[in-house]
Amino acid sequence: VIDERMPVGNPDACRGACAASLAVFIKTEFSTAARACSAIPPAPRALRLLSRREFRATVRDLFAGEAPPGSGPTAPRTCARRFVYDPQGRSLASVHLAGSFNGWSPSAWPMAREASGVWSLERALEPGEHTYKFVLEGREWVRDPRNPDAVPDGFGGQNSRALVTCTVTSPGGFAGLSLPADLGAGLPAETPPQGFLYDTHAASGLVTSVHLTEQLRTADVVVRALEPVTRAFAGCTPMETREGCVEGFLRRFGPRAFRRPLSPMEGARYRAVALGAPDLESGLRRVVRAMLVSPGFLYRTELGVAAGDGTWRLTPWEVASALSYTFWGTMPDARLLAAAEDGTLGTPAGAEREARRLLGDDRARARLGDFATQWLGVGSVVDAPRSAALAPEFDATVRSALLEELRRDFNHVVLDGSHRFRDLFTADQGYYDETLARWYRIPGVAGSGWRLGPLPPERRGGVLTLGAVLARYAHSDQGSPILRGVFVRRNLLCQEFPPPPPNAGGVPEVDPRATTRERFRQHTANATCRACHRYIDGPGFAFEGFDAVGRARTTENGMALDTRGTLEDLEGFGAGTEDTADGATALGALLGRSEAARGCFARQWFRFARGQRETATQRCAVLALTRRLRDTDDLREVLVGVVTSPDFLARRGP
Ligand code: HEC
Repeated sequence: VIDERMPVGNPDACRGACAASLAVFIKTEFSTAARACSAIPPAPRALRLLSRREFRATVRDLFAGEAPPGSGPTAPRTCARRFVYDPQGRSLASVHLAGSFNGWSPSAWPMAREASGVWSLERALEPGEHTYKFVLEGREWVRDPRNPDAVPDGFGGQNSRALVTCTVTSPGGFAGLSLPADLGAGLPAETPPQGFLYDTHAASGLVTSVHLTEQLRTADVVVRALEPVTRAFAGCTPMETREGCVEGFLRRFGPRAFRRPLSPMEGARYRAVALGAPDLESGLRRVVRAMLVSPGFLYRTELGVAAGDGTWRLTPWEVASALSYTFWGTMPDARLLAAAEDGTLGTPAGAEREARRLLGDDRARARLGDFATQWLGVGSVVDAPRSAALAPEFDATVRSALLEELRRDFNHVVLDGSHRFRDLFTADQGYYDETLARWYRIPGVAGSGWRLGPLPPERRGGVLTLGAVLARYAHSDQGSPILRGVFVRRNLLCQEFPPPPPNAGGVPEVDPRATTRERFRQHTANATCRACHRYIDGPGFAFEGFDAVGRARTTENGMALDTRGTLEDLEGFGAGTEDTADGATALGALLGRSEAARGCFARQWFRFARGQRETATQRCAVLALTRRLRDTDDLREVLVGVVTSPDFLARRGP
């Protein structure tokens, strides 16, 4: 294989003796590495600058006013709704709730029989409009007799309709600052190294003068907003002395701002800052301003304390931060900080318990949406130039709906649906609102809000057939089989390619007499080009059923389309296999079964969560995650696995 194909794009560069010695090297290195995986070595110690996204979320949460521990998230974005069915004395074996919120599943949401004889269920639902029915004993579908609001169900009967709205509960006392929505938006975007997809990259996170200017500006905005409510925010009682008030404030606010208790030296320094001011309130605000630009706030540490055996153990506070930033992208809540305080987080079991709790909270949905958007590389679809002549309706509303669809669908598969890996590539249900339904030509969808429903057949390729993905990997006037193929290889299979040679030239001109496929096939037909493009164009051609803005099509320029794609070496270069798939949905089925795609998903999550590309020794940790995904077929196990892995609590390094 080395003789014939490597390096990709220039196979002549290593033949004969070169190829033979390289083969020996690979065999010895990799088999020792595989053996070494019986023990997973500790990860490197690290300092991590909060990303722009994390910084903004943290500032917001720090001043939003947190509810006391145990009383739930501060600003719930979903809202509980209780459903009650009164069987009027009839005895029933089961009652289920089915509706637009759970894909009309007759068995997913069982209701419970109460002592009074009624059946009930309380669930958190997204705000908006929902339709539903009760399913009696698995077969009899009835509308809610207590709810007069109903709409036609399309089968001659009626569905009940529920309008869900939310009230944001403000915790006792301090109601939270209202801060401008664009606070901190002036921070520069992250610049991770080539090929690293996530804004969490730890080593490239440094405070530049541009950062500092924006951090100071943010601190000033917060301090100004605090002015009328400083005392209430600090939680000082009217009878307290100035010293007592400062003391109490540092004790309460310090561990939230720094996500750990202040050291005695820090405490003394901030006390001096506060007491050096002309009055109590301006002193408290000085402390807030100073803390917001301090490394204790801006960085999170994964340094640990010396364990005595040459390794370092993360402190419970560091674990709390790692968990909350991994799963929420923001600071720990009061419960997590309490778990750090009482030592529960020091053990793998304690960390796992909290990880699962965080994953069950709404904040995890926002974070997983960020992960999926970056994994698939589609954020830029919002402002990618697309020829208006092609589709004037492809406007800002449609584009942001496409991104919202991706976030919701990903969360649905991972958290609410089957949790299975293959459904990321084969789901036949998805979320849409009225805008998106019109764009996808799904009939009969009207009214506000998002709903889960069946997808048209051509959209059943999971992430492959998301409008955001299809429109992102295209040019302003034409779809690109090459960009789509490279996306499959790099983002979904983690197979890397060297960059194209300088003589590769531009994209072939649009030609009304040829299909995209024909133009591209001719373009990359020669042997040098094929060395790479045999892997790239093959999967790319399976997307021919979609145009430059991701709309489904069956002809191009009046000519019939060929949507057959091929996938060489799906499980790794040199495997010698060739799979075929007619269309993106069939390609999705292939990827959904693929071992390499599973390994890649584990690797992508590992990179996002750890903020680094896995080192040679960390491959073992990634392998263990992949195995866990294979054994459980539950995506949540990969998400949680990254913080229960033996290399998480223990660290190595100088
Ligand atoms: C070393 C591997 C390699 C070789 C050899 C190679 N390419 Fe590519 N080519 C790539 C990769 C990777 C990309 C995608 C670059 C990116 O991510 O934007 C690409 C992109 C392209 C694109 C842009 C597609 C688009 O829609 O933007 C064209 C056109 C192209 N190659 C043509 C050629 C031609 C013609 C040759 C032979 C003269 C060739 N390439 C040789 C790897 C290769």
